[in-house]
Amino acid sequence: MTIKLSTSAINCQLKSLNFISLKAKDAVCDYFMDNYQIRPNVNKQNPDIRILNFLNQHEYSIYIDTSGDTLFKRGYRKDKLEAPLKENLASALVFLSNWQREETLFDPMCGSGTIVIEALMKALNIAPGLFRRFAFEKFTNFYQRDFDQLKHQAKLDIDKSFKPLIYANDIDIRAIKQAKLNLSYMKLGEYIKFNNNDFLKIKAPDVSGVIISNLPYGVRLDDLTKLEKFYPQLAQHLKNNYANWRCYFLSGDLRMPKLMRLKPSKKIPIFNGSIECRLFEFIMVSGSNR
Ligand SMILES: C[S@@+](CC[C@H](N)C(=O)[O-])C[C@H]1O[C@@H](n2cnc3c(N)ncnc32)[C@H](O)[C@@H]1O
Repeated sequence: MTIKLSTSAINCQLKSLNFISLKAKDAVCDYFMDNYQIRPNVNKQNPDIRILNFLNQHEYSIYIDTSGDTLFKRGYRKDKLEAPLKENLASALVFLSNWQREETLFDPMCGSGTIVIEALMKALNIAPGLFRRFAFEKFTNFYQRDFDQLKHQAKLDIDKSFKPLIYANDIDIRAIKQAKLNLSYMKLGEYIKFNNNDFLKIKAPDVSGVIISNLPYGVRLDDLTKLEKFYPQLAQHLKNNYANWRCYFLSGDLRMPKLMRLKPSKKIPIFNGSIECRLFEFIMVSGSNR
């Protein structure tokens, strides 16, 4: 099989980390030559086995990566749209909103649909790693049959009979196409109702429910002056159409509540990558918000 070695260090006196990777790679290759008379090849792009060296001032540790792709990647995402949320962050937003699967859920600016898909997975009890592969599947002591059994059980645990009320909308048709593609990969196409419209022009999908959305914000998508105009319109739209809804907006633009003239009942600090954000909670009641 192919290997890739990398090295990271803290307070280590050895200066060339590349040299350490090289020495460790030689050691691994020597081991295979001595014991099996065959030498693993190096593949830097897509190796079968990733090996990580870690050094500090006193110790050297060597790790084999059992995951492969980072664990937030669930395997359903086929898109490369702008600014998608990481799956684990979207899932965290659903948990923080305390959305219960009996409640109507709506992401009015859904992008590639990460939030609604994560909510659906929660509602139907879908194991997060079910659609991806793991590096340990390449290990020689990996038992395919045992793993297949675990996956089989996870599939049996999916509660497909439950039909949650989940709605998603985006102004950009490409986003809707991506979201549908991601969902169809899991063969769950019929579980989320999509709409392609300006959020400010559509009515609420239900009399009450939970909105969770990741707003466009200055740093990554839109410029800040555009948003200054958008926030008051958004606030007015929520007041007119979303009485009895709990609304959760993730934004990196900390001016947002002030510009909306709505007082959030919660402001939860969250980092979206390196961008410091807040998850703002607005509890809407008739004519205003509480
Ligand atoms: C930050 S992205 C959302 C990313 C999404 N959470 C994901 O994980 O892919 C913001 C989205 O808001 C959409 N959007 C912006 N203004 C909108 C509007 N007035 N109505 C509906 N969607 C809008 C954009 O097209 C974009 O897809």
